[in-house]
Amino acid sequence: MGFVFANQVALVTGAASGIGLATARAFAEAGAAVALADVNREAVHAVAGELSAAGHKVIPIGCDVSDITQVQAMVRQTVAEFGRLDAAFNNAGIQNLLAETADATAEDYDRVMSVNLRGMWACMKFQLQHMREQGSGSIVNCSSLGGLVGGAERANYHAAKHGVIGLTKSAALEYAARNIRVNAVCPGLIWTPMAEQMVAAGQGEALEGMVKSIPMARHGRPEEIADAVLWLSSRRASYVTGQSISVDGGFIMR
Ligand SMILES: NC(=O)c1ccc[n+]([C@@H]2O[C@H](COP(=O)([O-])OP(=O)(O)OC[C@H]3O[C@@H](n4cnc5c(N)ncnc54)[C@H](O)[C@@H]3O)[C@@H](O)[C@H]2O)c1
Repeated sequence: MGFVFANQVALVTGAASGIGLATARAFAEAGAAVALADVNREAVHAVAGELSAAGHKVIPIGCDVSDITQVQAMVRQTVAEFGRLDAAFNNAGIQNLLAETADATAEDYDRVMSVNLRGMWACMKFQLQHMREQGSGSIVNCSSLGGLVGGAERANYHAAKHGVIGLTKSAALEYAARNIRVNAVCPGLIWTPMAEQMVAAGQGEALEGMVKSIPMARHGRPEEIADAVLWLSSRRASYVTGQSISVDGGFIMR
């Protein structure tokens, strides 16, 4: 049986592509009203139009999560439109420019942190303000296997994704007794436009090598992350908080 989110409201960031799009679609198909937020305004309007045409209750919101004012407006718009906020999936994220730590630039560090860590923090801040008042809610943050292990030439990305787990556990502790759960999902190698960009940037061989070290010997699909997010967001995960769930074909076992 699928998940049921009838009469519930979900907010997904980075919803125009890949994992975010698959999760927004899954929430909508489960009956939720969904706010789809993305920095790519044109793309998020297009995907929201498609979901709307299929009969789902959705709105597109242009939002750059690295801008705290836009994040506050995103949460306000969601609540103004749908009246409440039950589930948030903070998923928007970017890659760092590959470089040894000694060669990486401060600009790239700030760019990655402003989206992958500060953006996540800002989303949680305003979502939690609303959920605290509402007296309920669930947040799932998108970390990565990069939040659990190191990655050569990827220190900025891995540092941000480790930070996401720290934010998740800390907020989970604060709100555990107030009917608000906060968890993280740690995707392994998932075939999305981000992975395609890595191939285009000459990292195809490295990704192939990575697939060989995945016990299930394949990359994952965005829908496989969406399933985990919907479970974590649902009442069926009512006793689960502060966790970082790996969905990675077994990669992290080694
Ligand atoms: N694909 C993978 O293998 C993989 C593995 C581990 C973790 N992740 C994480 O999953 C998340 C989604 O990745 P994906 O593979 O679906 O990527 P993707 O590039 O396909 O989609 C990311 C979306 O986020 C949006 N976005 C980027 N910067 C933004 C910003 N500042 N504000 C709002 N939206 C912004 C993009 O426009 C895009 O629509 C990311 O946090 C990523 O780090 C992906």
